[in-house]
Amino acid sequence: MSRLIEFKNYSMGFRDEDGRVHNLLDNICFSIEEGTAVGIVGESGCGKSMTSLSIMGLLPPSVVIQGGEILYKGTDLLKKSKTEMQEIRGKEIAMIFQEPMTALNPVHTIGFQIGEALKIHFPDTSKEDIQKAVIKQLELVGIPNPEARAMQYPHQFSGGMRQRAMIAMALICQPKLLIADEATTALDVTIQAQVLDLMKRLKESGSLMVVTHNLGVVAELCDEVVVMYAGRVVERGSLEAILDHPLHPYTKGLMAAIPTMTSGDEELYTIPGSVPNIENFEKGCRFSPRCEYCLDKCKDDVPPTKQVDDRHYVQCWLTFDGEGADYDNNNS
Ligand SMILES: Nc1ncnc2c1ncn2[C@@H]1O[C@H](COP(=O)(O)OP(=O)(O)O)[C@@H](O)[C@H]1O
Ligand SMILES: [Mg+2]
Repeated sequence: MSRLIEFKNYSMGFRDEDGRVHNLLDNICFSIEEGTAVGIVGESGCGKSMTSLSIMGLLPPSVVIQGGEILYKGTDLLKKSKTEMQEIRGKEIAMIFQEPMTALNPVHTIGFQIGEALKIHFPDTSKEDIQKAVIKQLELVGIPNPEARAMQYPHQFSGGMRQRAMIAMALICQPKLLIADEATTALDVTIQAQVLDLMKRLKESGSLMVVTHNLGVVAELCDEVVVMYAGRVVERGSLEAILDHPLHPYTKGLMAAIPTMTSGDEELYTIPGSVPNIENFEKGCRFSPRCEYCLDKCKDDVPPTKQVDDRHYVQCWLTFDGEGADYDNNNS
């Protein structure tokens, strides 16, 4: 397996109106191997989208990169020029968003927009070949009557169809990595299942980074899981490790909050409290104010990251020897 993306101690923050920089992403480390799907999970506000946008080189102007590297096939994306990033974006790495209307232009036909992506990155392609590729791509994402549909405008498409059109646009250049940021969240259950099927098939031709707060989606699609909390990777590992042997109290909380076959009408568990704003992050473990196992040092000192297994890592004081004995007993 070869490594497609590797975050190495990547940190970034935002400059506020007074010029002070507030850190969000702190020492992010994880990697994406070729041909695999990695799920990025965590509640809203944990930094998942900023992680995606950092790969794409599409960060807002107030962002300050504080350190580290984001390697794509071994070279640092953070050191690439604007032009170099434009070459990579769309061709090598593509992204689909929650709201397809933000990615689609209302004044151009769907077919034109999907073809544009190809034209930009492969300018020598003939008009006929572009046309053929667009129709084929629309077919692949399950749009019926692709010839007629290609001539229509975004407003003539339903929400689910727009989502597929956006996926077609992202896939036409056959990128090595597709980033799907909450791409199924706004869809109804049937369409969501179809889009998930589509993404599953993508793994045959490339890698997938699935950003979601829905662990069900992750279980369906992903080989590995990265759990983020308030800008830090608190746990990462194989799907099995994270689902069957979660170690971080936050991961356990997320697991307990998934509806199961037997949970029926019972009220679902939710982790008490909410993700803090970047100005109010705890000095030590950022999850400590919400953690039922919180020790004194959790408030003051950033927990080291412990390697539990080959690819299973956790950033929590409780997992260090001699700490959190009660917690271990609870680790069922
Ligand atoms: N332009 C911005 N300026 C300052 N802070 C921001 C900005 N955009 C995002 N943030 C902060 O970054 C946090 C994480 O954002 P985001 O990556 O969108 O999280 P997620 O995708 O996990 O919901 C937000 O909760 C907010 O505090
Ligand atoms: Mg987001």
